[in-house]
Amino acid sequence: MSSTDMESFLAVYKQIESEIISDIQGLPALSDNVKAQLAEYYSACLPYTVPGGKMTRGLTVIKGVEVLKQRSLTDEEYKDAAILGWQVEWLQAFFLVADDIMDGSITRRGSPCWYRCPNVTQDNAINDALILENMIYQTIRRHFRSHPSYVQLLELFIDTTFQTEVGQHIDTNGTPYSNGRRAKLDLSRFTLDRYQGCVRYKTCYYSFYLSCALALAYCGYDPEGEEGRALYKKAEDVCMILGEYFQIQDDVLDAFAPPEVLGKIGTDIEDAKCSWLVCKALEIANDEQRTILEENYGKHDPVGVQKVKDLYKEMNLEGLFVAYEEERKKTCDELIAKIEPEHFQELFKFLLSKIYKREK
Ligand code: FPP
Ligand code: MG
Repeated sequence: MSSTDMESFLAVYKQIESEIISDIQGLPALSDNVKAQLAEYYSACLPYTVPGGKMTRGLTVIKGVEVLKQRSLTDEEYKDAAILGWQVEWLQAFFLVADDIMDGSITRRGSPCWYRCPNVTQDNAINDALILENMIYQTIRRHFRSHPSYVQLLELFIDTTFQTEVGQHIDTNGTPYSNGRRAKLDLSRFTLDRYQGCVRYKTCYYSFYLSCALALAYCGYDPEGEEGRALYKKAEDVCMILGEYFQIQDDVLDAFAPPEVLGKIGTDIEDAKCSWLVCKALEIANDEQRTILEENYGKHDPVGVQKVKDLYKEMNLEGLFVAYEEERKKTCDELIAKIEPEHFQELFKFLLSKIYKREK
């Protein structure tokens, strides 16, 4: 059985969930009735929002610890790595619950977004996003308080949350607000330069670097020490490239993947997002094509959205993406092959294999 199989990983999720629900049931100075209501609500919220994705971020922590130790993990090490892996999934749940409200999304992982569930609504979902975030720190305290890397593990989550929130700000303000309304669409903002900065912050750190850095921290590598510093830096360099490639895929899938496969309905065109597609289109558009974007990008109008998608097709952006993907795969293979120590390469090969030609 592989250490990154889903079943064992999901069993650890179940345990963390039970611990959290028991804590809620034990909250002081609340009547049994109120505690039962809370426990019932979060017994529905957690399985709906936390598991159910591809779980790559979480499994990467286990893979990372295994690669760094260069052997199979003991039961205790496996469990520790899986608990940390789940905290990355919890962080993602926190972000996605909030992001779906901000983006006005409809579905996520094939079901209605959490804020759209009839017994939830936006009021609860905002608070739930914050509660999901807080649960990370409760679980890390419960399991790692006496671990030599405790403070470093906490700091990794704090720093990554800030980085992602900075990225989210850039992402949400491609078209800024002015006097409470969206300003007029300004296509000159959608450059690959803005795109790269946005993606580094909103995606690369939490989706790629965090899991690798947690594995390094758990295994005792000190980011201030000579050996440790070099390893964290190598992980960061590769993760920035893998993360950008992953987000470019996300943007292409947003416009072109069938929603039933993707599990979500794209909103990037309606929300005037600084997507790779619009940046690429603007790079090569003639005047007429640019006018189509000026007139239809960023509008909540299905006819306009279709015009933008037709334009993307006419400009062969999907073809450009296929070429980009092949080139990126080659660059990543070459970059990974240069990483020392050689066994550390396996972690990044694992990540690349999870994203190359992904369809969801
Ligand atoms: C999803 O990317 C975006 C994120 C995971 C980052 C979200 C960060 C926040 C919501 C900050 C939260 C902070 C508070 C306090 C509410 P995407 O929109 O490109 O992905 P998608 O295609 O899956 O929607
Ligand atoms: Mg978003």
